[in-house]
Amino acid sequence: MAEHVLLIGGGGREHAIARALEGGSGGEVDLYACAGNRNPGIARLATEFETLETTNPKAVREYAEDVGATLAVVGPEAPLEAGVVDELEDAGIYAFGPKAEEARIETDKAFQRRFMAEHDVPGCPEFETFDDMDAACDFIDEYDGDLAIKPAGLTGGKGVKVIGDQVTAEEGKAYIRDSDYDRIVLEERLVGEEFTVQAFVADGEVRTAPAVQDHKRAYEGDEGPNTGGMGSYSDATFELPFMTDADYEEAVSVIEATVDALEGYRGILYGQFMLTSEGPKVIEFNARFGDPEAMNTLPVLETPFLDVLTAARDGDELPALEFASQATVCKYAVPEGYPTDPKAGAKVQVDEESAGDALLYYASVDERDDGIYTTTSRAFAVVGVADSITEAEEIAEDALEVAGEEGLHVRHDIGKPDLVQQRIDHVEELRGK
Ligand code: AMP
Ligand code: GLY
Repeated sequence: MAEHVLLIGGGGREHAIARALEGGSGGEVDLYACAGNRNPGIARLATEFETLETTNPKAVREYAEDVGATLAVVGPEAPLEAGVVDELEDAGIYAFGPKAEEARIETDKAFQRRFMAEHDVPGCPEFETFDDMDAACDFIDEYDGDLAIKPAGLTGGKGVKVIGDQVTAEEGKAYIRDSDYDRIVLEERLVGEEFTVQAFVADGEVRTAPAVQDHKRAYEGDEGPNTGGMGSYSDATFELPFMTDADYEEAVSVIEATVDALEGYRGILYGQFMLTSEGPKVIEFNARFGDPEAMNTLPVLETPFLDVLTAARDGDELPALEFASQATVCKYAVPEGYPTDPKAGAKVQVDEESAGDALLYYASVDERDDGIYTTTSRAFAVVGVADSITEAEEIAEDALEVAGEEGLHVRHDIGKPDLVQQRIDHVEELRGK
């Protein structure tokens, strides 16, 4: 009998999950999907697509029961925080994702840092947590060095301000005073190159994927405000060109230590690291696949994703994961003005047929009777997959040219040889080579 898999979420990450959910070795999949927006890519792959509020656990449960879901996969963080996994479990439906309590490793950054400190998880920067904003501003004045200012709750990747990078100390203090955050974390500013390692986790077992580098800043040359991620690349090996095997292994051991300490965690654990002169340090954990990183990882995953899910649900050993030895480059097309003043409601004209060798993923767009429209978030992504980063980048660029990015903004520099080389030079400089 086919598994009835319910996919929750309607972004580019979820479109990639939907594609990865084609049949496993145990049988076929009947895909059902729900999201706040109608994602045309997912809708096409699904037997049924329901628009609903995914942060309403009861609504998700009702739909899951209606379609006879035998498994669920939660893409975004907001439904995890809202307790969708807990609610589905109450209904006897296994969801691959952490319950609200375990998802705090992402949804509460103050909890996350204290957890790392209490359990001696390696790679934790110096930090202090505050619920008194005046005390936080005093700490900025007294601290010897630059700090990163982080709201404790979810901000879609857009709430962090780094003193000495994006803002001055005075601007940082004004940001704290003018925002209405009730808790913030101040932590040591980490300097280096960022990378992501995502792990598939169930019953204490951990299977990691190749490292990916996302690009958070809105504009080329890493300028502009932070976004949810403008694009990302991975290499044909598990490491990125600026990393050694030992750096990757160190990141994996941080993830393993975290899973050991987080009893009962299941789903994806995403570690975001800064490769500093002292090795990898944790920027944050996420309780789900990265977006865009899922679009780098899932296309090269050769082991059927369904096999991972059924093993996790059935309490079997997770399969060893096979990844194709291929590099990937993902570039997002986002609405004009994103992220500060995004233009929603613009018609998106994508010529899918012309995407050529690239993969095309729809993200936070909404399909209506007369076409596809932007929302306030990222619109669609193209992904090139090839033997080298350079070739994968060319495939992605060719696809953008023909798929049409009119009225949308793209960071064309992602994955280009110059930028990749800058990262290598940066790490060599940090390491004093
Ligand atoms: P987050 O929302 O925690 O992913 O942070 C968003 C971005 O802020 C990260 O991708 C980093 O570029 C930056 N960031 C966060 N924490 C630090 C830190 N301690 N030092 C330097 N940059 C940071
Ligand atoms: N790419 C960053 C994130 O998914 O949070």
